[in-house]
Amino acid sequence: MSKELFNPYIEPFTRVDRRASPEDLRQPPGVDTLYPLANNENPLGPSPRVLEAINDAAQSLSYYPEFSDLALREAICGALGRGLAPDSIFTGCSGFETLELIARAFLRPGDEVILSPPTFSGAYKKVAEPLGAKVVEAPLAPETFRYRTDAVLRAVNESTKLIMLCNPNNPTGAVIPADAVDELVRGLPDHALLVVDEVYHHFVETPDFPDSIQYVLAEKNVVIVHSFSKAYGLAGLRLGYGIAKPAIANYIAGLLRGFHQNKLALAAGIAACQDQAHVRRCVDFLRGEVAWLCKQFDRLDIKYWKSSTNFILFETRMPAEDLNQQLLQRGFLVRAQTQNNLPFGIRVSAGARASNQAFISALEAILNATAN
Ligand SMILES: Cc1ncc(COP(=O)(O)O)c(C=O)c1O
Repeated sequence: MSKELFNPYIEPFTRVDRRASPEDLRQPPGVDTLYPLANNENPLGPSPRVLEAINDAAQSLSYYPEFSDLALREAICGALGRGLAPDSIFTGCSGFETLELIARAFLRPGDEVILSPPTFSGAYKKVAEPLGAKVVEAPLAPETFRYRTDAVLRAVNESTKLIMLCNPNNPTGAVIPADAVDELVRGLPDHALLVVDEVYHHFVETPDFPDSIQYVLAEKNVVIVHSFSKAYGLAGLRLGYGIAKPAIANYIAGLLRGFHQNKLALAAGIAACQDQAHVRRCVDFLRGEVAWLCKQFDRLDIKYWKSSTNFILFETRMPAEDLNQQLLQRGFLVRAQTQNNLPFGIRVSAGARASNQAFISALEAILNATAN
């Protein structure tokens, strides 16, 4: 095929057909139940009001949805408060697409994007590298996974366009404290944008979590990414949004096609925003399950990192891929962290109590079998 056919400025990744959810995974022989603990989903699912809204909206699917997502942005502002107006919000079909929109809006070939691994690197690279941007790494401190603002600021140069800050961080579960983020924002040059990926923000309890919306209200070059996949229990719907000063939010929104959000997503997102009691119930429940899992890790003398999310990173005594395989044979889907350069790390999502209990029993059985 002629090379000229393809866009020289875009270098896509190789297509991957990966099965990820329990419905589409092939069960290993002899396994009756699959336990989806790999994707940090919410086992309680969405609010019943969301399901009602989807059902109502489904009655008119032969008609296009509203041309713009304004009603959804108004509902998001209602949920966020803080005096934010809809022109500070842009919506994406998932948090991932929200990241993609930011990348498309700002990155040119040769621009640099700073990441602090271990983080959600796979996704950040996927949105940046096909556009010809170069990923530069300013890693977290080894072992403690402390965020090193000094290393990030040292990596900043004239080509830096985006700094990706995942807070709390996936896969470590840790919060990057307010003073570190404050120092970063103060050190940010005018030509760079700080992208704060806060899709797990609902789960945070620690008082030193930064108030990133204050930076948006103060018109800083900061864009916050949120998702309906986690605390809202709507991962299957693919809905997310960004928060930024109007000059940035409107610029990114200018990339969006008309009818960009489908009718079901608009109805569901609005209903979800209007039922914050459901979010609080999910958050309380999942915090409890994370605490229960941590107690079990303590009992089994397994090292783990303190988590401000709905998942936990723990250290494995055998290569993580081996443990991953053994867990998979018993129906447990977890995420080995080999690609994050943690060959002895596994990330497990908090599920419902029965799943968590089954997971701990399986883990204990595997550990006992290998110890003997
Ligand atoms: C840190 C982080 N950012 C963004 C996303 C994307 O979320 P979604 O595309 O489901 O909204 C995820 C998903 O797991 C994540 O862990």
